[in-house]
Amino acid sequence: MEIIMIDGNKVLFSGMQATGSLTLGNYLGALKNWLTLSDEYMCFYSVVDLHSITIRQDPAELRRRARNLLTLYIAAGLDPEKNCIYYQSHVSGHAELAWILNCFTYMGELNRMTQYKDKAAKHADNINAGLFTYPVLMAADILLYQADVVPVGRDQLQHLELTRDVAQRFNAVYGDVFTIPEPYIGKSGASIKSLQDPAKKMSKSDENPNASIYLMDDPDTVMRKFKRAVTDSEACVRYREEQPGIMNLMNIYSVCTGRPNEEIEREFDGRGYGEFKTAVGEAVVDVLKPLQERFEDLSKNKDYIDGIIKNNAEKAGYYAQKTLRKVQKKVGFPEKIR
Ligand code: TYM
Repeated sequence: MEIIMIDGNKVLFSGMQATGSLTLGNYLGALKNWLTLSDEYMCFYSVVDLHSITIRQDPAELRRRARNLLTLYIAAGLDPEKNCIYYQSHVSGHAELAWILNCFTYMGELNRMTQYKDKAAKHADNINAGLFTYPVLMAADILLYQADVVPVGRDQLQHLELTRDVAQRFNAVYGDVFTIPEPYIGKSGASIKSLQDPAKKMSKSDENPNASIYLMDDPDTVMRKFKRAVTDSEACVRYREEQPGIMNLMNIYSVCTGRPNEEIEREFDGRGYGEFKTAVGEAVVDVLKPLQERFEDLSKNKDYIDGIIKNNAEKAGYYAQKTLRKVQKKVGFPEKIR
């Protein structure tokens, strides 16, 4: 199989939506792993604004959030000289490849997507075709850069499986055009749960603000939300399915401090939930504080961020065109006369 090696490295693609404020779930489930992997791969990190409009957005607000998200990628520690950090809407190849892949994806496959069903139920007044074909655009994002690995939280696995199926189907017809990507799911941060209902994932769009820690929450807010986190009446810090609230807090504490669960159980043996919740809150504040400070600094530097936006869109566009041209030729579109 031909794998496009970019600068000798394997390729990583991932993205986040600029809808709502990023949560600790986004950070621990995805962004943190991006940082760990960024030295090993040639990385494309996109702010996926095309995906965002599958739900109605206020235009000025979407622009503001998209810029904040891009800035946050850098504030989190991704070096924009080494990693390609860009807006999806600045590279038209995403939409162009998505159209072609739409013709290789079955309605039945898209009908099975649980995220579509959830979102359609939530936005019953606006079940648009974009919401339905959202996973195809996601497949296009990934396949456009011939990505080998895609770090995501567990909620995106189904979309990754679809991406692989569509790529394999295309390759079966036209030869080895696309690299088949592998998902990368971190160990303990893969599914961070709501602090108010540990059966649900922590989500940007939760109506209860106490359910999610937002990356821009100040320390007092973080501590208050952890104090109010729903637990149980067992009164012991143990990693057990029967204690989903405590399991979630342990997951968060473990990813933030790097300590394994057995060590955490020992540390809090015989101590109350109050102490444990305070420790988790403090560990999260320690992670968020430097991120927030760097974000503030970077946000003031308009020219620097503008430069990154421009250069990286060009770089992403270059690699995207390479795949797109190959795909267009394979499906039978006529060559452009130059
Ligand atoms: P989005 O914006 O919903 O989420 C961004 C990333 O955060 C992860 N995540 C979580 N991880 C653990 N616990 C949680 N509670 C939690 N909530 C969110 C998500 O799994 C995701 O990795 N469709 C994608 C964006 C996208 C994309 C792509 C991702 C578009 N094209 C191509 C990878 C590759 C999304 O909506 O993510």
